[in-house]
Amino acid sequence: MNDMVQIPPREMGVRAAGRRTGLVTGASSGIGAELAKALAARGYDLVLVARRTEPLDALGRELAQRHGVSVRAVRADLSRPDAAGRLWTEVTAAGETVDVLVNNAGSGLHGLLWEEDPDSLGAMLELNVMSLVALTRLALPGMVRRRWGRILNVASIVSFQPGGPRMAAYFASKSFVLSFTQGLRAELKGTGVGATALCPGPTRTSFEERSDLARTPLYRWLALTPARATAEAACRGMERGRGVVVPGLATRVLAFAGRYSPTAIALEVNRWLLTPRGKR
Ligand SMILES: NC(=O)c1ccc[n+]([C@@H]2O[C@H](COP(=O)([O-])OP(=O)(O)OC[C@H]3O[C@@H](n4cnc5c(N)ncnc54)[C@H](OP(=O)(O)O)[C@@H]3O)[C@@H](O)[C@H]2O)c1
Repeated sequence: MNDMVQIPPREMGVRAAGRRTGLVTGASSGIGAELAKALAARGYDLVLVARRTEPLDALGRELAQRHGVSVRAVRADLSRPDAAGRLWTEVTAAGETVDVLVNNAGSGLHGLLWEEDPDSLGAMLELNVMSLVALTRLALPGMVRRRWGRILNVASIVSFQPGGPRMAAYFASKSFVLSFTQGLRAELKGTGVGATALCPGPTRTSFEERSDLARTPLYRWLALTPARATAEAACRGMERGRGVVVPGLATRVLAFAGRYSPTAIALEVNRWLLTPRGKR
């Protein structure tokens, strides 16, 4: 169930004329929290969404105090099939409009597919793919009607890869996000609404621990980008109307290599990068 959490400083639902609101999923840590900070610094009121309410409340208080924006925290588990619809109803029932939708919440299962728990697999795909599409679908009519809006979907550097042994479903879900966002962007031409796919490379967040990637060469040996730099690049790209944002030179080189290397070679390199080394 989605629960309203804390509604810090300014009164809910009261939008000063000309103010815009950004809804950020997965704002309780990592890239999502930094995206929320970057939007608040640009003057956006915020709706912050995640399962953990304490970090959302703390971030909400900090941003309201520092930037004078209105922040509302909403708890939702977006790995549940009905969560996006319920979240949208809760947000809009209070009279909120969403001008910028940031679909950032995501998770990555790491392991051999036939050993994964089927429920966890389904939950990851629901979160990474279905909720993202559902929220986008729900947000767009208002944006198109108002002739202004921005969708920022968090894909990944792996979106450019032909596949990821030991993370096959995660890689495929992120390729979906990139393809979906690019197709949608073309569909939205002339409406005043933009769509941007953010494709971060390995970034320093809790993703690495949560996905059990800390012992893989991918996370041990590549330099991890700070989440703040990733979020800043994303906001700049979105403001400039970019379709795809790949933050950092090293990440752009990886994206290029993923796109243009022969498939068989890329798959072998990915197998090596994703195979854990050393002791736990
Ligand atoms: N870190 C990287 O190297 C990297 C690289 C490329 C792409 N990405 C993508 O970046 C996005 C953000 O990840 P991150 O690196 O910032 O990792 P993170 O620190 O683990 O953040 C993930 C966020 O998603 C939220 N979330 C997870 N499951 C959820 C659920 N079922 N319902 C609602 N919210 C949920 C988490 O909050 P709660 O746990 O409180 O719900 C958290 O706020 C993801 O889409 C990830 O795939 C990350």
